[in-house]
This record gives sequence, structure tokens and C-alpha cells, in this order.
Amino acid sequence: MAVELSFSGQYAVLTLNRPEALNALRFSMLEEIARVADTIAASPARALIVTGAGPKAFCAGADIKELMGRDILAQRRGAELGQNAFARLAALSIPSVAVIHGYAFGGGLELAMACTFRIATPQAKMGLPEIKLGLIPGYGGTQRLPRLVGEARAKALVMSGRTIDAREAEHIGLVNEIVEGDDPVALGQAYLAQFTAFSKCASLFAREAVERALATPLAEGLRIESDLSTLAYQTHDANEGMRAFVEKRTPEFKDA
Ligand code: CAA
Repeated sequence: MAVELSFSGQYAVLTLNRPEALNALRFSMLEEIARVADTIAASPARALIVTGAGPKAFCAGADIKELMGRDILAQRRGAELGQNAFARLAALSIPSVAVIHGYAFGGGLELAMACTFRIATPQAKMGLPEIKLGLIPGYGGTQRLPRLVGEARAKALVMSGRTIDAREAEHIGLVNEIVEGDDPVALGQAYLAQFTAFSKCASLFAREAVERALATPLAEGLRIESDLSTLAYQTHDANEGMRAFVEKRTPEFKDA
């Protein structure tokens, strides 16, 4: 399969496995990603690692050979397919990290941007080069990039198609951290470990509140924060967390 799902302890691992084409995304792979997202949602995994097979690339984008010669309606369906698949990943209740080693271009970077976090090895190179093909990003890039790096930087990257390295990507906030190592799964696990020890409820509410900040006016966002923090207070885990602090012991969260 060109999209593989495996489990390693508490982690789900989604691997794009088409290294001979630098893991370029065929339409069938987008459908597989959507299906895999549903499987992950129904699994007990506490976090998701997204990676690409082979030493050269996370993913070089949509499969350009497949895109060629498609009529306009098929192209539109392709964009909807990609957007839907990545939206399903973004909507997972568990945190996800894209481990970018080598190239992440076009649809590959758009996939990484649908994850909660991105980490990159020092050799990583990324960009949205669609403009060089006479195209524009179609799998969410024009919408997620400005939310991550701001409008001015997003316009510059989308309209120039410029490639940036890991250091610049970290500087502008496109990647969370530069990490060193050869094993993407181990790198992903090490990064995600800082998020998985807490209550799943609190983790989800925290993420939801921050994500809403970008999609709503301030007054509405503050209301959402009040609602979610009130909801958090009602959980077993909040009771346990505060009680454990007072009793000077480690809390035992139950994700409830
Ligand atoms: N689609 C299809 N095949 C691709 C591909 C892609 N996006 N990227 C790489 N490949 C294939 C190459 O055709 C080549 O296959 P062959 O050996 O059969 O010719 C193989 O992968 C290895 O690639 P290169 O020989 O080009 O490797 P390189 O190291 O010289 O260059 C690269 C690497 C700079 C990433 C270069 O492959 C490249 O520029 N790829 C295209 C990147 C790109 O433009 N991505 C955007 C795609 S459009 C898109 O994603 C639209 C959207 O918004 C969804």
C-alpha cells in the first residue's frame, strides 16, 4: 500500500510509502489517507506521527504526472479529495506531528500543515512551488500557511514558490522544532511525548481553544475559551489534577 498505518505503543504511524516517486500523492493515496484517518479515530492511539518512506522525501507533493491532462472537473474533485483527506487528519482528537526529513513540497507541505505540529531535520527543504507549474496550492496551503506564518510571509512563499530550509521554516513558525536523527518514528515519538502524559480531555480542549482563536473574532473566541475551560473543570481529570497537586503526588488521569 502506498499509505501505511501501523501502531507503535500509544502512537499511530501514517507512512507515505512511494519512495521511488518521493512519496508523491496520487488521488488514490488521498482516499487512503481519509480512510486511515477514520481508522485512527476509532483506535486507542494517543498521538499520530506522519512520515514518508525513504531517505529523500517526506512528500514531493501531488503526483504531477497524474495531474496532467485531467479535465477541470477532475481537477476540482482532486482538490476536494485532498482538502477532505487533510481535514479529516486535522480533525482527529489526538495531536499529530509531521516529521519532515528531506523534501516537503506542494501537497506534501499541505499535508504537514494539517498536522498539529511539524518537526524537521536540518536537511529538510520545503515550499509551495505550484506557481512554477502554473498552478496554485489546492490541498489547503493558501489557507493553512497564513494561519501559521502570517499573511505577508504566506503571500511571499505562495507567489514565489521559493524553497526554504529547516532553519528558515523554524524561524517563521512553519516548523515547531529542528530535530536530529535518522528514524522519523523515533523523532516523532520523542517530540510527542511531551503532550501525551496529560488528560486527553484537557489536551483536546486546549487545542480546540487555540485553533478557534484563528477562526473567530476575539469576543467569540473568549466565550469559547470560557465554555471549554468550564467544561474542563467538570472532568474527573481536573478534580484529580488539582487534588494531586494539593496532596503532593503525581495525578492519575483517566481521560474522563
Ligand atoms: N509528482 C510526480 N513525480 C514526482 C514528483 C511529483 N510531485 N516529485 C518527484 N517525482 C518523481 C520524479 O519524476 C522522479 O521519477 P523518475 O525517476 O521516474 O523520473 C523521482 O520522483 C525522483 O525525483 P527527481 O529525479 O526529480 O529527484 P531530485 O532529487 O532531482 O529532485 C525534487 C527532487 C526537487 C523534489 C523534484 O523532484 C521536484 O521538484 N518535484 C516536484 C515538486 C513539486 O513541484 N511539487 C508540487 C506538486 S503540485 C501540488 O502539490 C499541487 C497541490 O497543491 C496539491
